[in-house]
Amino acid sequence: MNTYEIIYKKREGKVLTKEEIGYIISGYLAGDIPDYQVSAFLMAIFFKGMETDELAEFTRLMADSGEKVDLSSMGAPTVDKHSTGGVGDGVSLILAPLAASLGAVVPMMSGRGLGHTGGTLDKLESIPGYNVNLSQEEFIRQLEKIGVAIIGQTENIAPADKEFYALRDVTATVDSIPLITASIMSKKLAEGVESLVLDVKTGSGAFMRRYDDAVSLAKAMIDTGRAHGRNMAAIISDMSQPLGRSVGNALEIKQAVEVLKGAGPADMRELTLELVSIMLQISGIEPDPSKAEKMTAENLSNGKALQKFAEMVEEQGGDPRVAENPDRVLPAASYSLEVKAPSDGYIEKMDTRLIGVAALSLGAGRRNMQEKIDFSAGIEVLAKTGDKVSEGEVIAVLYSSRESDLSGVADDYLAGLSFSEEEQKAPELIYRVLR
Ligand code: URA
Repeated sequence: MNTYEIIYKKREGKVLTKEEIGYIISGYLAGDIPDYQVSAFLMAIFFKGMETDELAEFTRLMADSGEKVDLSSMGAPTVDKHSTGGVGDGVSLILAPLAASLGAVVPMMSGRGLGHTGGTLDKLESIPGYNVNLSQEEFIRQLEKIGVAIIGQTENIAPADKEFYALRDVTATVDSIPLITASIMSKKLAEGVESLVLDVKTGSGAFMRRYDDAVSLAKAMIDTGRAHGRNMAAIISDMSQPLGRSVGNALEIKQAVEVLKGAGPADMRELTLELVSIMLQISGIEPDPSKAEKMTAENLSNGKALQKFAEMVEEQGGDPRVAENPDRVLPAASYSLEVKAPSDGYIEKMDTRLIGVAALSLGAGRRNMQEKIDFSAGIEVLAKTGDKVSEGEVIAVLYSSRESDLSGVADDYLAGLSFSEEEQKAPELIYRVLR
């Protein structure tokens, strides 16, 4: 076996054996195969794709490249959610404690924001004291005690993915369905959950902008998870406008607390309820859809999910008073600016990526991993697609600790919107559920 032959075989569209894929992964991790050959290998996959069994094997080998989390001591169904990311997607903050309050164990390893999308870890770190860097032992201990933890990926989960991702990032091979599938699912397999629901986003703020690509990605991830005995389901949901009304770290925590108190924006609540209801069904906690929906809605209104959120924050070193009075605990921006509608009309479209970039410019995100985040920065989105607005009406509020940025960002925000004199329909929130 040699690297050239394996690249050639994939370039010709042939199916690789597990030995061949393993040869590349272990050779690359050992430093025996150079970047340029692995780059060519990834590009060959980008163009020729992978068959279902081949992709399942590739994913398994990536998961096997590092440590596995052992959740066998949990004594309750383990279930997680993965979202492909978007603007204002603070669902995990509500979903994880809500599912745990209903008897699931939710071992969530999340990511940081990069580019126009936010990350759950950054959002949680806006709560003073919250520690996302638990060791694997601490993670397990917390899960045994309260059934939920949201942490960063521990160092040794799927190291092959880290190496491959760094190459993909600079060789234009990120947006490949098999490569994304192997990347996400290898980490999920290593994290050891029995059941997983995917929230695959589509629209102007999503990774997979086109609906058909989102469905193909969801199907590939479902097939891969099932090949490894996991219970899987996926939702295809809208990201043609921001989710909820808040974009930015502390703002999204505050909004999550509102939803956990039974209020908050309807779309955030609806999507979270649907995802948790599916989690209960696929994990066997409550297979009946109407009962699962009822239980889920109940724990948002009776305060049990909020209580679980406060427990999680406290266990991880954060100030649990955030669950009662977020304004007292969370950082507040020194400056704000109202964005006003330029004319009467209806919001026709939102370029959600540009809105994410506007939040980034305010300080809510980072352009590279070294940049520091301003937790107080962000955008309150007061009008969304389909809403009727009048000239001069406040349609968004920008927050930052840097006064100088605000007026330029207001122009950027408006550049992301288009208006029409004709009535416009709001987009659907959930396009499809795949099981
Ligand atoms: N997120 C990941 O973890 N991997 C990808 O390839 C894309 C998004």
